[in-house]
Amino acid sequence: MSAPALRGAPPPDAAPDWTVDQAWSHYTAQEHQVWLTLYERQVQVLAGRACDAFLHGLDALDLHGDGVPDFARVNERLSRLTGWSVVAVHGLVPDEVFFDHLANRRFPAGRFIRRPDQLDYLQEPDVFHDVFGHVPMLTDPTFADYMQAYGRGGARASGLGQLHHLARLYWYTVEFGLMDTSAGRRIYGAGIVSSRAETLYSLEDPGPRRVPFDLDQVMRTPYRIDDLQQLYVVIPSLQTLLDVTLQDFAPVYERLAGQPDLPLEG
Ligand code: PHE
Ligand code: FE
Repeated sequence: MSAPALRGAPPPDAAPDWTVDQAWSHYTAQEHQVWLTLYERQVQVLAGRACDAFLHGLDALDLHGDGVPDFARVNERLSRLTGWSVVAVHGLVPDEVFFDHLANRRFPAGRFIRRPDQLDYLQEPDVFHDVFGHVPMLTDPTFADYMQAYGRGGARASGLGQLHHLARLYWYTVEFGLMDTSAGRRIYGAGIVSSRAETLYSLEDPGPRRVPFDLDQVMRTPYRIDDLQQLYVVIPSLQTLLDVTLQDFAPVYERLAGQPDLPLEG
């Protein structure tokens, strides 16, 4: 048994829920230019590769206009579509804070943007990854419900000591998910759509494995955060993803307790 981890305090300028003002007027011309550069080159590669829900969301939210989007303006559109909103945070927030935002249909997004020499890779999620990568999918009603359910499930998994299992579901769906559609295989994962290299690699490189979605297998498979993925999980539709994950995970966690992790290399 272990004592519950003490929850750290938010940074001095943040609210108790760890949010801060986006301070949109403080972005410099160079920072806006970084957004525009990234936006343009992703749009080039995403046509025919990202799923329709993502591309429609990108259009509906008008994320290209003046560089880094003003969250207040994004939220006017997003809240009308699915009741979600984007809130600014400094970077990563504690798990329980993150889950609480999701459970209330708020997506916490980093407000800083990478430097011009970091266009291709960044360890920490910045506003481009968080807003360009994650927010368009939140305009899709099914995905919007999935993310909220994930937030509720996170609080629950945390209480059951099962976050390591649940986090893998997030990784292989929300971050690096692929989907089969009648038009072909498409990307919906935020970690892919916000990266030019991974957009091409995930769909077209012969190297990585691509396996059909299976909840137990996903939860038993570790992941690496420091390189292109060696494994992508393919869902048949967003509705299937939501249907499968709406089941009670308590028996799933029990069943997994006796089973070893699966190797990343098939
Ligand atoms: N059904 C999950 C549970 O019982 C909650 C959940 C839903 C988790 C959707 C992730 C995604 O805990
Ligand atoms: Fe992310």
